[in-house]
Amino acid sequence: VQARAFAPASVGNIGVGFDLLGHSIDGPRDVATVRRIDAPEVRITAISGDIPGVDRLPLEAARNTAGQALISMREKLGLAHGFELSLVKGIPLGSGLGGSAASCVAAVVAANALLDEPLPREALYEFALDGESVSSGSRHGDNVAPMLLGGVVMATHDRMIALDVPEWLHAVVVHPDQMLETRRAREVLAEPYPLHDVVRQSAHLALFLTGLQRGDASLLREGLVDLLVEPRRASLIPGFAAAKAAALANGALGASISGAGPSTFAWFASREAAEAAAPMMRVAFAEAGYDSRAYVTPV
Ligand code: HSE
Repeated sequence: VQARAFAPASVGNIGVGFDLLGHSIDGPRDVATVRRIDAPEVRITAISGDIPGVDRLPLEAARNTAGQALISMREKLGLAHGFELSLVKGIPLGSGLGGSAASCVAAVVAANALLDEPLPREALYEFALDGESVSSGSRHGDNVAPMLLGGVVMATHDRMIALDVPEWLHAVVVHPDQMLETRRAREVLAEPYPLHDVVRQSAHLALFLTGLQRGDASLLREGLVDLLVEPRRASLIPGFAAAKAAALANGALGASISGAGPSTFAWFASREAAEAAAPMMRVAFAEAGYDSRAYVTPV
């Protein structure tokens, strides 16, 4: 018996909610095929996909994010049987689109369908988190949670809350042809932050969440400003500042780095506005010397 599941890419952090907020996108995806086996172990048989570096991903289950997610699922549920997994990666590595999280989510969703008693999505969160932490060295759910539930999701250390979003909200996500390792993008955050910056950021987060709940574009515009993480990461991403400026000059409510970068996202009050701004954001990366792909997606 086997099951297949996909997980979409996502925008981690949404600028203002570091390690806390994320949203799924209609764009690239990872696909996992899982087979239930009698042997009490997790095996990875193949990892393929048309993305650079796919052949460098470890096949050893404990070193692979999706493999580790299934190991965690077996151990925590006390399963007597094992799983055999194959992955087709569509989300580029080191892109800031949640590729490592997507493999975990696709694997646990497929494996869940093979359980004698499949669990609700919420129960899969901790297994996916256990897997994701293999790659980033830290436990955060801002990518796995929106991949599990869809839409905008708040991901705390132990739970996921899907947030209401106005139906007009659209995002542009531009992936420049650069690779940035999450570990490296987290190293630059090591220095302490002054309390007054944290307080100002809390105000932005509060405005942002209220804006989402009320469907109020001007509150979203005020709130979608990241004072903590983006200023320290921006210089790791050639073309980011210009792409963000292009988004804002073309009507974006706000723009920032997607996940750990280098992908860059912007939010808009309509699909038309998002579609008009996407090429301008790509031009900014082109002028910095980078090809890119843009995705326009409902949020
Ligand atoms: N919240 C994470 C970060 C996303 O920004 O480092 C990448 O895993």
